[in-house]
Amino acid sequence: MRIVVLGAGAVGSLIGAMLHRAGEDVVLVGSPAHVEAIRAGGLRIEGRLEGTFAIAAETRLAPGTSTDLVWFTVKTFDLARATEQAARELPGSIPWVLAQNGLGVEEVARAALRSAGRVADPDRWLVRAVNTIPATLVAPGIVRQPGDGEIRLADPNHAGTSGPSVRLVAASLLRAGVPVRFVPDIDRAAWRKAVVNAAINPVTAEHDILNGQLLQDPWRTEATILLLEALSAARLAGYDFSLEELERDLWETIRATAGNRSSMLQDVDRGRPTEIDSISGYLLDTARRHSVTLPATERIVERIRRRTASASHPRQQRS
Ligand code: PAF
Repeated sequence: MRIVVLGAGAVGSLIGAMLHRAGEDVVLVGSPAHVEAIRAGGLRIEGRLEGTFAIAAETRLAPGTSTDLVWFTVKTFDLARATEQAARELPGSIPWVLAQNGLGVEEVARAALRSAGRVADPDRWLVRAVNTIPATLVAPGIVRQPGDGEIRLADPNHAGTSGPSVRLVAASLLRAGVPVRFVPDIDRAAWRKAVVNAAINPVTAEHDILNGQLLQDPWRTEATILLLEALSAARLAGYDFSLEELERDLWETIRATAGNRSSMLQDVDRGRPTEIDSISGYLLDTARRHSVTLPATERIVERIRRRTASASHPRQQRS
């Protein structure tokens, strides 16, 4: 099966490598430096998956590219541009896998598919994937997988019109040995992950620390306060998580990804924009609509925004 990965940075390259290893015809679309390194010496994956893979890599999506499936692993702030381009250049009726951190990503992709007028029923093709497999872009052409995780997909039997698309995506991942978990409510899974990201990512990005350092104070307390505020936003949005389940998720994720630099910290490292708006910013907007304030979240969002204010939005972002 032909699979295009748009925005192949750390996560996209890792998923692409696993699919390629299983015999899929994968094309990574990434930044010029990453693509140049892959073309010169292959894609090197270190950590849990070890190997060098001779994968096709491009810096842009060529008009008329044919593919059976497309993974979007661009950053959330670059998703509108990437989906609009894909709606123009790719075949209309293929599954689109959205693997972003954060919330509100389906609306962006749906709008791109509708505005291109190519697809009558966008929801048939959109597949939300919630990824917990950690990955770090060590250098162009080199990705490290420092821990374990899984890809959560909607249970295809309860996924409405998108069920067949979910099944196709799941089958390719399972063939590649990628841990997949089917969940009854994928929106709930996306919120659950966003709450955990809201506690981990800004703190690691602000203090330049590995995920595992959040197990110690003062960062442990800061992450816990952010988790509590994120929980109140989730409840306002109708997700009745318990504090116990979210705390368990938070500390399990931190332990499983202890050696990782969070994706937000990697963005700050590279002077790029971050996903603060689609993670913590989305929680703030949800709370505001109910006249509720989240003071600690507000403060850290401001600090991260100030820190990355001068970051430009490169043409091809990666997650
Ligand atoms: O954004 C990230 O970095 C990841 O979602 C996670 C799970 C926090 C691991 O670093």
